[in-house]
Amino acid sequence: MNYIDSKSLYFRYRNSTEDVLKNVDFNANKGEITAIIGESGSGKSTLLRILAGLEVPQKGELAINDRVLIDEEIFIPVEKRGIGMVFQDYALFPHLSVEKNILFGMNKMKKESASKRTCEVLDLVSMKEFIKRYPHELSGGQQQRVALARALAPKPGVILLDEPFSNLDANLQGKIRNELKTILKTSGETAIFVSHDKDDLEIADRVVILNKGEVIQTGTPADIFENPKNEYVRHILGI
Ligand SMILES: Nc1ncnc2c1ncn2[C@@H]1O[C@H](COP(=O)(O)OP(=O)(O)OP(=O)(O)O)[C@@H](O)[C@H]1O
Ligand SMILES: [Mg+2]
Repeated sequence: MNYIDSKSLYFRYRNSTEDVLKNVDFNANKGEITAIIGESGSGKSTLLRILAGLEVPQKGELAINDRVLIDEEIFIPVEKRGIGMVFQDYALFPHLSVEKNILFGMNKMKKESASKRTCEVLDLVSMKEFIKRYPHELSGGQQQRVALARALAPKPGVILLDEPFSNLDANLQGKIRNELKTILKTSGETAIFVSHDKDDLEIADRVVILNKGEVIQTGTPADIFENPKNEYVRHILGI
C-alpha cells in the first residue's frame, strides 16, 4: 500500500457547479518528493487542501501510513493529521514576528528545544537575521522562506507545499530548491509540492500531471519526459 493513498476523490466547491476534482487517485511513497503539476485552475491547490484536511471531498477515500483520514464515515480534521503546509500565499500570521510564527506550530515542545529548532530552520532558509521582523517588513520571497521554515519546524512527516518557489528570483530558486531537497531527504520527510515550473521537477522523485481535475499521467520525471502521454503533457513539460 502507498504511504499516501487516495481513491476516487471528487470535489466541488459549495455554490459552484464545477467539478474541480473528478475521481482523482493520488498516491505518494514514503520519503519521496512528489510534484503535482498542471495548468492554472486544474485543481492542484484544491487537492493539497483536501490532503491537509482544509476541504472535505464529496466522495473518495484518503489514508496516510495506513491511517484512514477520509472515508464514508471518517473525517480526521486538519489539526489531528500532523501535516505541514506551505500555502500559495504563505499565510503567515501578520501580528506575529518571524520567530513567533515559527514557534506557533511547536507549542507542544519544550521552550528550549522549540527555540533551538527555530534557529535551525531559519538558518536552513537563510533568514536568521530576520527573526525579529514582522511579515509586512519582509519581501514576498522572504515570507515564502519563513513559511517554509514554519512548516518544517515541527518535523511533520508529511509536508505539502503550494508553489513553494514561485516568488523567488531565479538564483534563489535554484538554491532553495536544492536545499529543500537535502532538508527533506535528510529528515525523511514525505513531501508533495505543486508547481507550474518544469524546472522544479528536478527535485521530484515522482510527478503527477493534472488537467481539469483529472490525473493525466504519473511517473518519474524521466518516464514522463521520455513518454509524454499526450499533447497536454508535452505542453506542461515545454517539449
Ligand atoms: N473557494 C472557491 N470557491 C469556488 N471555486 C473555487 C474556489 N477556489 C478555487 N476554485 C475553483 O476551482 C478550480 C481549481 O482551483 P485551484 O485553486 O485548485 O487551481 P490550481 O491548479 O491551484 O490553480 P493555480 O495554478 O492558478 O494556483 C478553479 O476553477 C477555481 O476557480
Ligand atoms: Mg493553486
